[in-house]
Amino acid sequence: MSTFTANLIFSVLFLVFGAALGLLGNGDKFRRKVSVELNPGLTHPWVLPPGVNLVHVQGLGLNDTLHFLLCNHGAPALLMVHTNSTQSSVQVDWPSFIKSSSPRSLKVEPQSSVLYSSALVFTRVWEYDDVNNTADPQQTAESSFYPPYELQNFIWSDLNKTGDQSNHTLQLCGGENTESFVNGSLCLQFSAFESVGRDQPWPSLHHNANSSQLHVWLKGVTPRGNHSRFALEFQSVGDSGFEGRVDVYSSIDDEYTPSIFKVSQWVSSPVNSTGVWGYNQWKPVAYRKADPVFEDATPCKHSQLVSMTHIPQSRLVQAYFTNDTQTYGLNISFGIEKDPAFYSDTKYISWTVLVGLGDPPADSFSTLIIIIITVGLGTPLVIIIVGGVFVWLRKKRSQSSGYEPIN
Ligand SMILES: *[C@@H]1O[C@H](CO)[C@@H](O)[C@H](O)[C@H]1NC(C)=O
Ligand SMILES: *[C@@H]1O[C@H](CO)[C@@H](O)[C@H](O)[C@H]1NC(C)=O
Ligand SMILES: *[C@@H]1O[C@H](CO)[C@@H](O)[C@H](O)[C@H]1NC(C)=O
Ligand SMILES: *[C@@H]1O[C@H](CO)[C@@H](O)[C@H](O)[C@H]1NC(C)=O
Ligand SMILES: *[C@@H]1O[C@H](CO)[C@@H](O)[C@H](O)[C@H]1NC(C)=O
Ligand SMILES: *[C@@H]1O[C@H](CO)[C@@H](O)[C@H](O)[C@H]1NC(C)=O
Ligand SMILES: *[C@@H]1O[C@H](CO)[C@@H](O)[C@H](O)[C@H]1NC(C)=O
Ligand SMILES: *[C@@H]1O[C@H](CO)[C@@H](O)[C@H](O)[C@H]1NC(C)=O
Ligand SMILES: *[C@@H]1O[C@H](CO)[C@@H](O)[C@H](O)[C@H]1NC(C)=O
Ligand SMILES: *[C@@H]1O[C@H](CO)[C@@H](O)[C@H](O)[C@H]1NC(C)=O
Ligand SMILES: *[C@@H]1O[C@H](CO)[C@@H](O)[C@H](O)[C@H]1NC(C)=O
Repeated sequence: MSTFTANLIFSVLFLVFGAALGLLGNGDKFRRKVSVELNPGLTHPWVLPPGVNLVHVQGLGLNDTLHFLLCNHGAPALLMVHTNSTQSSVQVDWPSFIKSSSPRSLKVEPQSSVLYSSALVFTRVWEYDDVNNTADPQQTAESSFYPPYELQNFIWSDLNKTGDQSNHTLQLCGGENTESFVNGSLCLQFSAFESVGRDQPWPSLHHNANSSQLHVWLKGVTPRGNHSRFALEFQSVGDSGFEGRVDVYSSIDDEYTPSIFKVSQWVSSPVNSTGVWGYNQWKPVAYRKADPVFEDATPCKHSQLVSMTHIPQSRLVQAYFTNDTQTYGLNISFGIEKDPAFYSDTKYISWTVLVGLGDPPADSFSTLIIIIITVGLGTPLVIIIVGGVFVWLRKKRSQSSGYEPIN
């Protein structure tokens, strides 16, 4: 009997801890070898306009390569190209790229190895005077909008100077020659990753070797209205034959992004297919300070996806894609209805998006949560089973010894 009981308890413990370890062991071992290259193949006498650069970040897998290209000629853009070869390379026809960005002046060779391409372009910053405090551009009268800041006209800092190559992190800041931007700038920080992990600063998105991250912030800009709020417009360009949609999921990941229980995913699938080939993933939260505390978090909202008729004014995108493309646009607006804090309070807003290949990373429970669940579920189970066995044993014993009269 006691061996039976012990066996039972062991099996239950094994099941519970096994499940917990299964959740833990979900950690992905997939790695890429990441390298960063500036202006690939650019030689004398060709020169890019001042401050303009093309950065190539290559993530080498065992039998594939994930290329990221970042360029600030025109609207800042991030191009992602996945190939099924470890020998694929970026070829730029520099005279043509510099002069006119004719289609195909930037290629990934051999072209037969290219499996998937997609680009994300930051096109505009919208500002509106939110007199009704709705924090909703769609409910705001058109007359409350100021002329948008067209990012294709911005003057950008040199990508080369701000790059942190050891970390696969690059930074880019830009602005325009107006009073609003005297002390202000719009900045982008790009990061590529060799393996799974999370950045320390909130929202601590869960990345892997198939993703890259863009952290965007608008700092020190003088607002044009007394109740100014901002929205960021971005567009995604891909091969025709793919279509986009935005899904919003619940997230359990309170530990890494406090108080945010949702995750938004703009995914790209082949027409008439549910398979996801590429994604932009974000949490609907923005932060009002560079080193935020809990109170500096503010929700953000995305608009409907709109199909655009033209590809955006980005030299990189115009040079890579032919006219056989599909472009969608979307706005992310910062703030929530009745929010007493407007942009002018901190003159800072930041937002983070993950750009990657294949299925977006899913939230997983942290070790701490798994231990809590294991103890929480395991203990009562063990008590129930041990209790059950004892009752059964007593019954068995009382049956074998016949009736025991109750006094
Ligand atoms: C790529 O490598 C993985 C693991 O090394 C293997 O499972 C897969 O079949 C390979 N794919 C191709 C197309 O060779
Ligand atoms: C790579 O992909 C192309 C196009 O899909 C295909 O023709 C080629 O056979 C693939 N090569 C390998 C090594 O899988
Ligand atoms: C404020 O709300 C009123 C009523 O909903 C609406 O008529 C008006 O256009 C709004 N004003 C702005 C600037 O959006
Ligand atoms: C970029 O920076 C590196 C190191 O700081 C330097 O060696 C290189 O010449 C720079 N390239 C350009 C185009 O400025
Ligand atoms: C890596 O990048 C982060 C910003 O994401 C920066 O804070 C950190 O100092 C960098 N680490 C190294 C070793 O350069
Ligand atoms: C920009 O900053 C300087 C120095 O801090 C300040 O004197 C000036 O008023 C600021 N300009 C604007 C438009 O905020
Ligand atoms: C990354 O992409 C490669 C190639 O498509 C795939 O084999 C691997 O499983 C992916 N890893 C993750 C974490 O998505
Ligand atoms: C902003 O407020 C100031 C005083 O509070 C007022 O003089 C000014 O006209 C307002 N500006 C706008 C654009 O509403
Ligand atoms: C997608 O499905 C629709 C209707 O089911 C069909 O008319 C269309 O041709 C399909 N498109 C592709 C690219 O398969
Ligand atoms: C692309 O451009 C070429 C020549 O400019 C034209 O022949 C072709 O029809 C265009 N394709 C699409 C899908 O617009
Ligand atoms: C973004 O919002 C502005 C202002 O409401 C609107 O004019 C523009 O069309 C929107 N862009 C997209 C891609 O929805």
